[in-house]
Amino acid sequence: FSLEHLKLEYPVYGSSDYRYPAVEILQENGSRISDFTYVSYTIAAGKPKLQGLPATYTEKDEEAQTLCVKLKDEVTGIVLELLYTIFTQRGIITRSARFTNEGTSSVHLLNAMSLSLDLPDKDYVWMQFSGAWSRERHVKERRLEQGIQSVGSIRGNSSHEHNPFIVLRRPSATENAGEVMGFSLIYSGNHRMQAEVDTHDTTRITVGINPQNFCWQLPAGESFEAPEAVMAYAENGFNQMSQRLHHFIREHIIRGTWQKKERPILLNSWEASYFDISEKKLLKLAKEAKEVGIELFVMDDGWFGERMDDSSSLGDWEANTKKLPGGLKGLSDKIHGLGLQFGIWVEPEMVNVKSKLYVAHPDWTIEIPGQPHSEGRNQRILDLGRREVQDYIIESMSKVFSSADISYVKWDMNRTFSDYYSTALPPERQGEVAHRYVLGLYRCMRELTERFPEILFEGCAAGGNRFDLGILCYFPQIWGSDDTDALCRAEIEENYSYGYPLSAVSAHVSACPNHQTLRNTPLETRFQVACFGSFGYECNLCDMKKEEKEAMKEQIALYKKWRKVLQQGTFYRGRSFYDGTQSGMGGSVLADEAGNQMEWTCVSEDGTKAVGMLMQKLVVPNTQQQTYYPKGLLPDVRYHFYNRKLKYNIKEFGDLVNTVSPVHIRQDSLTHQVLSKFVKMDGETEDFHAYGDTLMYGGVHVSPAFGGTGYNDKVRHYPDFASRLYFMDGEVKK
Ligand code: DGJ
Repeated sequence: FSLEHLKLEYPVYGSSDYRYPAVEILQENGSRISDFTYVSYTIAAGKPKLQGLPATYTEKDEEAQTLCVKLKDEVTGIVLELLYTIFTQRGIITRSARFTNEGTSSVHLLNAMSLSLDLPDKDYVWMQFSGAWSRERHVKERRLEQGIQSVGSIRGNSSHEHNPFIVLRRPSATENAGEVMGFSLIYSGNHRMQAEVDTHDTTRITVGINPQNFCWQLPAGESFEAPEAVMAYAENGFNQMSQRLHHFIREHIIRGTWQKKERPILLNSWEASYFDISEKKLLKLAKEAKEVGIELFVMDDGWFGERMDDSSSLGDWEANTKKLPGGLKGLSDKIHGLGLQFGIWVEPEMVNVKSKLYVAHPDWTIEIPGQPHSEGRNQRILDLGRREVQDYIIESMSKVFSSADISYVKWDMNRTFSDYYSTALPPERQGEVAHRYVLGLYRCMRELTERFPEILFEGCAAGGNRFDLGILCYFPQIWGSDDTDALCRAEIEENYSYGYPLSAVSAHVSACPNHQTLRNTPLETRFQVACFGSFGYECNLCDMKKEEKEAMKEQIALYKKWRKVLQQGTFYRGRSFYDGTQSGMGGSVLADEAGNQMEWTCVSEDGTKAVGMLMQKLVVPNTQQQTYYPKGLLPDVRYHFYNRKLKYNIKEFGDLVNTVSPVHIRQDSLTHQVLSKFVKMDGETEDFHAYGDTLMYGGVHVSPAFGGTGYNDKVRHYPDFASRLYFMDGEVKK
């Protein structure tokens, strides 16, 4: 008999269990061994708050039940409480752990995971969402095998590189079938997500703060709480897991005024003019924005101190009056005068050495006295573990936010951590710097969102460097990536959708050639991809052609009509650019279409309305059988299925003429035969009515209208990266 052969709930270091532990505690005598034994349990309705950490919440006690299991280590006197909250919405359990030192001596926590889960076998595929700046959230998969599979961050934030969300799936699982589990951490700092398969082929999952560089002193009488982790289970594939998480995040993570409110369509100035802004330029841009139907104008970086580029002024949060003669108030009044709301960009956690703030408080940054400092984007990180630094951020930002009529704030954070050290902490507490920073950040976010409940806050960290459930507890949306290229964005957004709702990921239409990839994609595709996120624009409308602005106007009007479905509906992934590898089939895009199409559907809560999108990567000659399969429709409801006429001839790609080719159902196709049995065709091609089950299972044959075959002069003009939107409007019986 050995602990190694049992499933353990919260394993300790140094017992006869030789797998990686959930906890390791260093005692004053040097021992790291603890032994927690059961004391008692309670079950209570609802969900308790965590001290200083963001967490899930309930509005009514009936929405969840919380089990607390109390254990004690008699040697050290440490009491451990394991919390399990079961949400009535099926498939979600959250977990956290609280340590209280009821002993007489101080100890150091070296490892304190949020969850540990022992699974009986290893028959899983591990999925992680990895990348780098501008190519966030790419799916990487591999079969679990004996040994350790782990991703994490020691960069101080949850990172571009490895998101604190992983999935385990049975090898046969697909979007719509099979067992899938998701694990997410409500935390924005260093994390570790790990699966260990032992030599008996059982699997242990641990999720929590990364033990690397973590060492928390716990004196007698004090408590420490590990962040909350979320476990999602689905018996019917990825879509079910994602939908459960989306719903859960919208109901139990995102909160406040904007939780259920439709998000405004914004224009952000960054890719239009970068740092080179002035009131005159911004107003010109805002006028154009108003013309096309945009609702919120956002001034990005470059408006404060002496900021001409990224080398100065972070920390000096006063408007540059050479650029903005009337300050923030003057500009905001004029923007409001145009009939737009006004928003701004800030980066409160940082300071440039070239700034008044750094001169006044050189000791407020995270750096090691007497040692060279690694710079990142010419800026240093303020030590948010210090109360006076938090107070400074809260007060300086409150001053900015109340100095004008500001409806939106983009809160940026543009570098990762290095040289962890706080001059405010003694040597034995330097292992606390990273976590204290995160706690300080949460205090600032909590105070400011409480003081300014009407402001729509958007998180950002050089794109998706801090995209996690911790941030989403305060800010309802986060900028998904600095990559605005529609092809890359389609994949990035799809991969975010595994663990996060569409409304949490902001996505913008930008100019072409794209500033990150230099790729040209159709304006229509850029619109369609962005409208499956919190939607906006990020381009210089003053430079755009009249036809492009006409097209944008029409796209924005359309988006407004379908905004509720897109932002609050249930999202389904269909075929994916990733399919080729996921199915293990490989295949060449140009030879057999594997991985050449992306298929999305978003269905309103009551199932009566839906928007679909089919996008292709590359034009493949002679592809006659492209079919869009909607999902999630009500089988017995009759829908009006249509796409729209694209009226504009935009000569972006030489000969590209985006004239309509409406849904075209070939007379000889199976779909046509099925449809004609059940459906009254309204005209040969334009649009038609069909029952939900016919649409879902028969599919809608959209070729050659959707993809180019080269045989037909109308369809030859559908270029690489083309996409189409499809609308389904159900007839509701009175
Ligand atoms: C990084 C962000 O991701 C961009 O959108 C932009 O706001 C810049 N920072 C501004 O410096």
